[in-house]
Amino acid sequence: MRKPIIAGNWKMNKTPEEAKALVTELIPLVKDAECDVVVCTPAVCFAAVAPVIEGTNVKLGAQNVHFKASGAYTGELSAEMLKAAGCEYVIIGHSERRQYFGETDKTVNLRTVAAVNAGLKAIVCVGENKEEREAGYTDYLVAYQTLMALHGLTNEQIVETIIAYEPVWAIGTGLTATDEQANETIGVIRKAIAGKYGECVAEKVRIQYGGSMKGSNVKGLMAQPEIDGGLIGGASLKAADFAQVVNF
Ligand code: 13P
Repeated sequence: MRKPIIAGNWKMNKTPEEAKALVTELIPLVKDAECDVVVCTPAVCFAAVAPVIEGTNVKLGAQNVHFKASGAYTGELSAEMLKAAGCEYVIIGHSERRQYFGETDKTVNLRTVAAVNAGLKAIVCVGENKEEREAGYTDYLVAYQTLMALHGLTNEQIVETIIAYEPVWAIGTGLTATDEQANETIGVIRKAIAGKYGECVAEKVRIQYGGSMKGSNVKGLMAQPEIDGGLIGGASLKAADFAQVVNF
């Protein structure tokens, strides 16, 4: 009932020229995809990518957004700017931003509310690190991160919001959560949403898995009932690799 969504998070990779080449190669490979397809490129690539994907099933996303509409926030981009540049989606609260750029549950919430109010679809990232998993805190942590991020949104806005469960220990490491681990933790996230907003809302929210997801493991992960898609890092940087995930 939930339409799967596969999004590429290019992180800090590709120049505009390289980005244009990648999406040009990607478009024919994913044209029959049964899932939503998104590429979250560096902001400097929006102008190169937007005209190429126009009219196709490939949609554009950003990797961060500021919570204010404008002002003295050097280096930041507002939701309206992202929309004007052709973005429909935005990743918020990726663990790399939490780890290296001081992102907190509070700022993730502010960014999410601003993005959603502006009409962007937020892909909100949550997930535990290795120590937190080993200490047995995964379920509490992902539930807390999720509810904090969604605070202040209406039920209608929440069902349009995407959660990406990305265990930090599985990102860029080649270590993937097992299909069952990923399914179980995503189930915990859905239950937390149900507890606060009701089953009707929770069953509509799409929750992705992210962390070393690729062609060779996508089928097993996507066969899990709770997993509604993927947020793909390394395997989104080559058209053929990403197409293999999209066409799972
Ligand atoms: P990898 O697929 O490279 O592990 O990255 C996952 C990720 O962080 C996507 O946001």
